[in-house]
Amino acid sequence: MVRSVKRLVVLGSTGSIGRQTLEVIASFPDRFQVIGLAAGENATLLAKQVAQFGPRFVCCRKLPPGDYQALSLEEMAAHPEADIVVIATPGRSGLGPTLAAAEAGKRIALANKESLVMAGEIITTAAEKSGASIIPVDSEHSAIWQCLEGERSAPQRFILTASGGPFRGYTPSRLAGVTPQQALAHPSWRMGRKVTIDSATLMNKGLEVIEAHWLFNMAYDNISVLIHPQSIIHSLVEFADGAVKAQLSHPDMRLPIQYALAYPERLANAALPLLNWDELTHLDFEPPDLAAFPCLKLAVQAGRKGGTYPAVLSGAGEAAVELFLTGRIGFTDIAATVAGALEEHESSSQPTIAEITAAEAWARQQVLQMAPGGSRC
Ligand SMILES: NC(=O)c1ccc[n+]([C@@H]2O[C@H](COP(=O)([O-])OP(=O)(O)OC[C@H]3O[C@@H](n4cnc5c(N)ncnc54)[C@H](OP(=O)(O)O)[C@@H]3O)[C@@H](O)[C@H]2O)c1
Repeated sequence: MVRSVKRLVVLGSTGSIGRQTLEVIASFPDRFQVIGLAAGENATLLAKQVAQFGPRFVCCRKLPPGDYQALSLEEMAAHPEADIVVIATPGRSGLGPTLAAAEAGKRIALANKESLVMAGEIITTAAEKSGASIIPVDSEHSAIWQCLEGERSAPQRFILTASGGPFRGYTPSRLAGVTPQQALAHPSWRMGRKVTIDSATLMNKGLEVIEAHWLFNMAYDNISVLIHPQSIIHSLVEFADGAVKAQLSHPDMRLPIQYALAYPERLANAALPLLNWDELTHLDFEPPDLAAFPCLKLAVQAGRKGGTYPAVLSGAGEAAVELFLTGRIGFTDIAATVAGALEEHESSSQPTIAEITAAEAWARQQVLQMAPGGSRC
């Protein structure tokens, strides 16, 4: 059988997901070819990646040496030669390229959740119109995707699992004193700084509820969250007859990344660790503590309200994380800060992309201005 090599664009190639994506690609040179790489600041690592993969297109604030064409994120995401677009830039930087790839009918391997959080309706409508497919890279959504494979009946309920982060079991008063260094030490996953702090506050799980709503067209009432500290079950899907399917594997992002790239095939990859069933004696579950981790509730409420509230949630959340990481607010102030921006906001009901990006920028500005030390925007 002659198999065509898939040409890939990797946006955010120097980050946690980007580097793991390139690792997977390097294991299958007969299947995947990198034609585009994009990064933010890390020109040194990008230069090494350019030398190794020889992309035809590159995007970075400081361009490394090489024989390529410089393109914007959006131009690369929509490029006619790209078969698969991996979107692994954080926060608002994912929105433009995700929409461009959706409009251009691409296969999108989507790690960036904020784009669907902010503009889920616009992106999914554009994908439907163009024939683009959005395949999740987020481990929980990849798990759901895998559980739905081959099913002819609609699922009744999703249960998204969460490790609970480094502060599982902490009381609100103990949480008030935690430091950025402690919050950055996630027990199961090695990720970028923003998503690691979001995991510690459970904001990340709230963003994932919104992401699941848009990816699978599931009502918010039928998406719940369960704390599962071992991070072995990546999510569960319940069906009408009461059957529940789960996807289990080591917490290793290379698996959902590889599945999104190779879908619908499963490829043998010796680098991916297997579960050891002799050691795996028990799996634990508990409900999330919404009093200690109010960001989860805030996010789901913003998703349910819709309009520009999710964009405000995203922008305020990003700015609040920046303030926490730079020591200007405490850990428990993150939720209060985001709640304040959501309360101040007047939402539009069927927002355009321009209204969504304006609401997101307004929220960031609002949070940074209100913080001790004033605006740094
Ligand atoms: N890490 C995970 O395990 C994980 C799991 C599920 C979902 N996600 C999602 O995936 C996304 C990326 O997460 P991550 O952990 O990989 O983040 P990360 O380690 O911080 O990496 C972010 C990447 O995006 C680049 N970047 C940042 N701003 C950019 C811009 N304006 N233009 C172009 N490139 C830009 C960074 O470049 P420089 O480093 O060169 O500045 C880096 O390559 C997030 O939305 C996150 O929620 C991550």
